[in-house]
Amino acid sequence: MNKFVWKKKDLLGLEELSADEILHILDTSKSFYEISTRAIKKVPVLRGKTVVNLFFEPSTRTKTSFELAEKRMSADIVNVSASGSSLTKGETLIDTVKNLAAYKIDILVMRHSVPGSAHMLSKILEASVVNAGDGAHEHPTQGLLDIFTIRQKKGRIENLKVAIVGDILHSRVARSNIWGLTKLGAEVILVGPTTLVPKHFEAMGVKISHNFDDVIGDVDVINMLRIQKERQKKNLFPSLREYSDLFGLDERRIKKIKKDAIVMHPGPINRGVEMSASVADGPFSVILDQVTNGLAVRMAVFFLVTGGRKGKGVM
Ligand code: CP
Repeated sequence: MNKFVWKKKDLLGLEELSADEILHILDTSKSFYEISTRAIKKVPVLRGKTVVNLFFEPSTRTKTSFELAEKRMSADIVNVSASGSSLTKGETLIDTVKNLAAYKIDILVMRHSVPGSAHMLSKILEASVVNAGDGAHEHPTQGLLDIFTIRQKKGRIENLKVAIVGDILHSRVARSNIWGLTKLGAEVILVGPTTLVPKHFEAMGVKISHNFDDVIGDVDVINMLRIQKERQKKNLFPSLREYSDLFGLDERRIKKIKKDAIVMHPGPINRGVEMSASVADGPFSVILDQVTNGLAVRMAVFFLVTGGRKGKGVM
């Protein structure tokens, strides 16, 4: 393990992390990955700490993974969903969170549709804030678990070629991956139609291609993203069938990839749109490894953001 000392109370995004900070989370995650291979998977790291999970958007993987991480670390947990809370009676997010913080909580995990919402709360809470996805802005633990998985399978990040394919415009997963991968020295190529991969992404230090077949045989990692119909305000491509023909990963296209390439997807998958079932379940897929690794990464994040601090309540 490197000698880096973690100082941040929150995990809000990969944009604000240095390469050393990202590497430190990845190295710490390796220790927590080992815990998940033991017969007894519970450790006392968060004993006596209270974690509130606030999920204002649907989630399967992220929510269960955070909750399992909290349970395996012996934390006390409270789950709050928007539909069952006083937000439905008109209470503001800030009031809701200040009231929760009045219980002297230690960590707030939040998924929200508004970009920057986790940053806003981090400024008023002494508790650690962990961003579980804020609109199309960032999904830092997904970015970290993706990078952890790439490192696990390929042995390094530096000088790898990583294609991120699909609905980049609406994707917090893409943004977190771009920040993290470029800081660690990977070459990132964004692939998709011009409407979903606009030119301004080049300012993040990536290449852009609108032709998947030009790129597919030259990359080490292919990360396929979901078409996020819920965030699209207008039709950005003619039909799902045409999208799938041009940018889907199916039996025909998978034959073109490098023999040692890996295929990723953050989930949930639209089978038959961005990826065929045979590719999702096939030999190049590391999708379920991503899910497994997410638990270790989230345990590492909890460990680091709570390390030795006594802060609680509202600032
Ligand atoms: N990858 C991801 O964030 O999945 P969920 O929306 O199911 O949490």
